[in-house]
Amino acid sequence: MKKRIAIFASGSGSNAQKIMELFKNSPDAEIALVLTNNPEAYVLQRADNFEIPSHIFDRKEFYETDDIIELLKNLEIDLIVLAGFLWLIPKNLIAEYPGRIVNIHPAILPKFGGKGMYGDHVHKAVMAAGETEGGITIHYVNENYDEGEYIYQAKYKIEKGDNLEMIKFKGQQLEHQHYPRIVESILKKIKK
Ligand code: GAR
Repeated sequence: MKKRIAIFASGSGSNAQKIMELFKNSPDAEIALVLTNNPEAYVLQRADNFEIPSHIFDRKEFYETDDIIELLKNLEIDLIVLAGFLWLIPKNLIAEYPGRIVNIHPAILPKFGGKGMYGDHVHKAVMAAGETEGGITIHYVNENYDEGEYIYQAKYKIEKGDNLEMIKFKGQQLEHQHYPRIVESILKKIKK
């Protein structure tokens, strides 16, 4: 039986897309659902292109009901993948999927993590700090922003004169290169 992944994303979904591509014809796993808090998120279009169903939710549904948990359970989801998802995961969802929620962060945690540290905010903070290296962290998710156990980290060089776009590009390249394969390796360890 195929393992089943749910992807949560709030924006463009370029990482989600890479994961969709990897599992498109996989005999082992499939993306069963894409969930977003943002009705305008481009990830919805990407899901559509891959004929993956999606679900849009609001704060009330996410934080005040068990509806999302019920949905994930009904779909027999094995792993939750956060790919540019910007809301804190509520305790009830973490309790339901212990060690089964992973996130990617565009910095070498614990530096440049925490509330408000997402997307360009992270890259800008890295630049402002005069760092000579940037990177990515793939980690398990707990109830605090960016604090779960690390699974994988990778670095890139920041050259003098690199601007925001360049730094963002280098980080994105690393994310796209590693997130899908790390998700695949985590899935292999999960028992159905
Ligand atoms: C990615 O760079 C991811 O690391 C970051 O959001 C971006 C989403 O891009 N996540 C965070 O900052 C989480 N704190 P994408 O929508 O193109 O995949």
